[in-house]
Amino acid sequence: MPVINHLLTRRSVIANKLSEPGPNDEEINKILIAAARVPDHKKLVPWRFIIFRGEARAQFGHILATACQEEFENASSDRLETEQSRFTRAPLVIATISRIVDKPGVPEWEQILSAGAACQNAIVAATSLGYAAQWITEWYAYNDTVRKALRLAANERIAGFIYIGTATEPPIERPRPALEDITSEWTP
Ligand SMILES: Cc1cc2nc3c(=O)[nH]c(=O)nc-3n(C[C@H](O)[C@H](O)[C@H](O)COP(=O)(O)O)c2cc1C
Repeated sequence: MPVINHLLTRRSVIANKLSEPGPNDEEINKILIAAARVPDHKKLVPWRFIIFRGEARAQFGHILATACQEEFENASSDRLETEQSRFTRAPLVIATISRIVDKPGVPEWEQILSAGAACQNAIVAATSLGYAAQWITEWYAYNDTVRKALRLAANERIAGFIYIGTATEPPIERPRPALEDITSEWTP
């Protein structure tokens, strides 16, 4: 699909509606190369990626369940099961990590924006390869036990978990803002 058509009609597919097959190694490389090809002021590379697939997804689920128990004291066994299986909702999860570099002239804000662009490029790339995707943070993007398990440094934060797979059903349209509500033309 031409890029403009894709951008005018794109939709995320929620993680619960993603299944096998997921991208193969070559496709994952393409998705990551596209994700790393984003505007990046002064070439700081203020992001990196951690991929989860196969068994590692359920193994990471143990960490999510432990972190959930710590954060939510009264978490039910159903809730812990949900946490255990979070990453297995999709065949591939890419954690996009925002990595702030100390560089005069490039404020943190710009570097975070670049990480956001990397997340979106990953989604557009995955979709253009025929897959569906969703950018998720949920509670665990902000949890210290999860941060430690991902071995994040002090200058790093989770920009998003990009869930990628094959849509089990097409998404329904989501209302979008009217352009006139979000756009104005500057006049002196
Ligand atoms: C930084 C960020 C974090 C998000 N986290 C979640 C989330 O935790 N759970 C969720 O359902 N959607 C989350 N979303 C929204 C979805 O990515 C997506 O926008 C939503 O499902 C609507 O689909 P659309 O992309 O077709 O508009 C997040 C979006 C952004 C930009």
